[in-house]
Amino acid sequence: MKTILICSQKGGTSKSTTATNLSSMLATRGQKTLLVDGDIQGTSMSFSARRKAHDFTLKVLNDEQMAVATAFDATLEKASREFDYCVIDLGGYDGNTLRIALSSKLVDVAIIPCIASYPDIETLPHMNKLISTANEIRGEAIAAHVLFTRCSTAPRSKVHNSGKEFVAKYCDALSNLDSRTCERVSYKNAIGLAQSVEEFETESKSRNRKGSQEMNSLLSEIMNIFKANDN
Ligand SMILES: Nc1ncnc2c1ncn2[C@@H]1O[C@H](COP(=O)(O)OP(=O)(O)OP(=O)(O)O)[C@@H](O)[C@H]1O
Ligand SMILES: [Mg+2]
Repeated sequence: MKTILICSQKGGTSKSTTATNLSSMLATRGQKTLLVDGDIQGTSMSFSARRKAHDFTLKVLNDEQMAVATAFDATLEKASREFDYCVIDLGGYDGNTLRIALSSKLVDVAIIPCIASYPDIETLPHMNKLISTANEIRGEAIAAHVLFTRCSTAPRSKVHNSGKEFVAKYCDALSNLDSRTCERVSYKNAIGLAQSVEEFETESKSRNRKGSQEMNSLLSEIMNIFKANDN
């Protein structure tokens, strides 16, 4: 089983949007997928409950289950016998849950969604510090990648490029993904209907398939990270 952790110390960065899209896309591609909701807000849980197609499995982990490293690892070990992929959606705050998940050797890749805006970008050094500490505990570096989200669709906006430069300069435990997402109403509509943005744009026969393109780009980049990890 390959495990994708979606996390950030900051709230509202598109973690649940990313997690629900990836889970739905993996499931519709025939992969046995587990979506773990580790956030008391329950966005992924609600998405799963509202989703018409029951094509992925949901597991909700409460604070007590997430607060003990052995319990977290035991959950993933058990899941690995049944699933091809596990996507974990965490809450947007620093705490035991985030630290334990980052330190687990059973997590293959951490994706850190970050809004392409300075107040959000400036929180990345703290994530970098958490990941550096987690790497010492793991005894190896986790593949940790920043995904700039909710970028402006204005052609002249370059905030995400400044964000990438910031990561390269100040965050040695993080790298930048080539993929990014933009602020699009299709993401909001899709999550409202408990669909991936790909399903939403297909079903609504939208000529604008930009959300699908962004999420497909993210999915294939993550698959390439898995391939690189395996070599
Ligand atoms: N790319 C996007 N375009 C438009 N709206 C978006 C996009 N990504 C997320 N949103 C909206 O922004 C809000 C926050 O998104 P989401 O719940 O995915 O963030 P989160 O990081 O999981 O938040 P939290 O830290 O509270 O768990 C939601 O209303 C969601 O619909
Ligand atoms: Mg969330």
